[in-house]
Amino acid sequence: GKSGYGHYMLKEINEQPQAIRQCLQGRTSEHQQSVLLEELADLDHDGLVQLVACGTSYHAAMYGEQLLQERGMQAQSFFASEYDADRIAVDNETLVIGVTQSGETADTLSALREANRAGAATLAVTNVVGSSAARECEYVVYIRAGPEISVAATKSFVSQQITLALIASTLADVSLPRFLRALQRLPDHIQRVLDRTTTPAVASEIADSEAYFFIGRGTHVPVALEGALKMKEITYKHAEGFPSGELKHGPLALLTPNTPVIALVTNGGETATKTIGNVNEVAARDAPVIAVTDARESVEGVSDTVLEVPRTHPWLAPVLANVQLQLLSYWVATRLGRPIDKPRHLAKTVTVE
Ligand code: M6R
Repeated sequence: GKSGYGHYMLKEINEQPQAIRQCLQGRTSEHQQSVLLEELADLDHDGLVQLVACGTSYHAAMYGEQLLQERGMQAQSFFASEYDADRIAVDNETLVIGVTQSGETADTLSALREANRAGAATLAVTNVVGSSAARECEYVVYIRAGPEISVAATKSFVSQQITLALIASTLADVSLPRFLRALQRLPDHIQRVLDRTTTPAVASEIADSEAYFFIGRGTHVPVALEGALKMKEITYKHAEGFPSGELKHGPLALLTPNTPVIALVTNGGETATKTIGNVNEVAARDAPVIAVTDARESVEGVSDTVLEVPRTHPWLAPVLANVQLQLLSYWVATRLGRPIDKPRHLAKTVTVE
């Protein structure tokens, strides 16, 4: 059942701390010095990694791509439906990772089959034991999110992000104690966001907007895209996500006082400063600004509303920011009376190409 929550989506958003604990269980060494992924014990790969996925899982794959690159690997992510083994370089030196919660998405399965035909090593990152993706691939790492009923993917996304982070450390063979310690604290940080969020009130103010824009840089780009996807999927409102630097190359023309811009500004440094610059361009067009930040003082002058997240390791800040975005979409959809768990025209698992 929904354990007292109005919808499965809200229940599953609230299950994220537990999902992460399950995902990490037994996968790091005692003092968080290194990652232990038994499933990959006999995989020794330092060549190209390609990730294939759809929808929310594609956004997790983008995040995985960035993490792999950060750890010195060559990585590329693809929409599974656009993966064409005849056109792109893929051979027996390539590792192809299929990221799919259900393990049954037709586009992802078909990309994995192509990769297998091309001689690549294949790895499924999935939630469902014994799923088609798990059976199609040579290797499988389960994300252990537990059952996800709501059509909108929430806890499976964070579990995919964490699983890909563990895989990236394993493949790159790097030990990152500071990152691993921050991972252990992530469930508590998410709990803090869940307990303190002001998204119900913010949602009431923005529920009848014309459109929503989500912007961020670097590791926040996948989350900006994910925030917009979630908003469209459950509110039926127009929403778009893009890198904050792209704003001035076109989308700026769409901004009005009725198009809130949700800006992801964490981690300080040059990235945050540049995004704040982009936020100023938004404010000058009288579009309302909602900043998701770990440094309230840095955005107070340029934003109308602030959604706070605890400060954490730079690579985990987007994970925390995403929880605020999930809640924001959920509460906007609630204010609009949408059938949140079963949006029109959508299925939990898409089994046609
Ligand atoms: O089961 P999968 O992870 O392969 O599903 C992929 C997409 O269909 C899925 O993430 C979809 O985008 C979600 N409903 C979005 O919330």
